[in-house]
Amino acid sequence: MEDRLKKEIDGIIEKHEGNHGALLGMLEDIQKNNPHNYLPEESLLYLAEKTKTPPSRIYGIITFYSFFSLVPEGRHCISICRGTACHTKGSKKLLDYIRENYRFENDTGGDAKLFITTEDRNLTLKTVACFGQCAMAPVIEVDGKIYGGVNINMLKDILKQIEGKQK
Ligand code: FES
Repeated sequence: MEDRLKKEIDGIIEKHEGNHGALLGMLEDIQKNNPHNYLPEESLLYLAEKTKTPPSRIYGIITFYSFFSLVPEGRHCISICRGTACHTKGSKKLLDYIRENYRFENDTGGDAKLFITTEDRNLTLKTVACFGQCAMAPVIEVDGKIYGGVNINMLKDILKQIEGKQK
């Protein structure tokens, strides 16, 4: 593991040590600092060693919270809500549109807990159970920004912007 990465994690540990929910904060920062927004195994093992925490406890936290990821994301990420309110307002159509227009690796066809990335690694597509913004259904999140009342035309514009950023 690179010294630079070790130093970065040391800094994160120092920042959170002694705080309530320290481990959760440390994991959030490690993921946020990763350019592919995930938690690499080597970082987790280093964190476990430095904080004297059993790796099983760390993995327990990661698997409990859906915003943690153990696999790298593409350069852009779209999460589509598949909760009841969003489903009723057409979120499935949004999901299908993206799936039909991009080539994804490992797409086995299901919708629940979807996490797929395009072959060019530009776009990750995820599904979530509910953003807690049901009044704005259908809701999607694009690179951390929430959009409500999304229709196909809005989605096309968002995808165009993402493709523009790739170049
Ligand atoms: S069901 Fe989509 S935000 Fe709640």
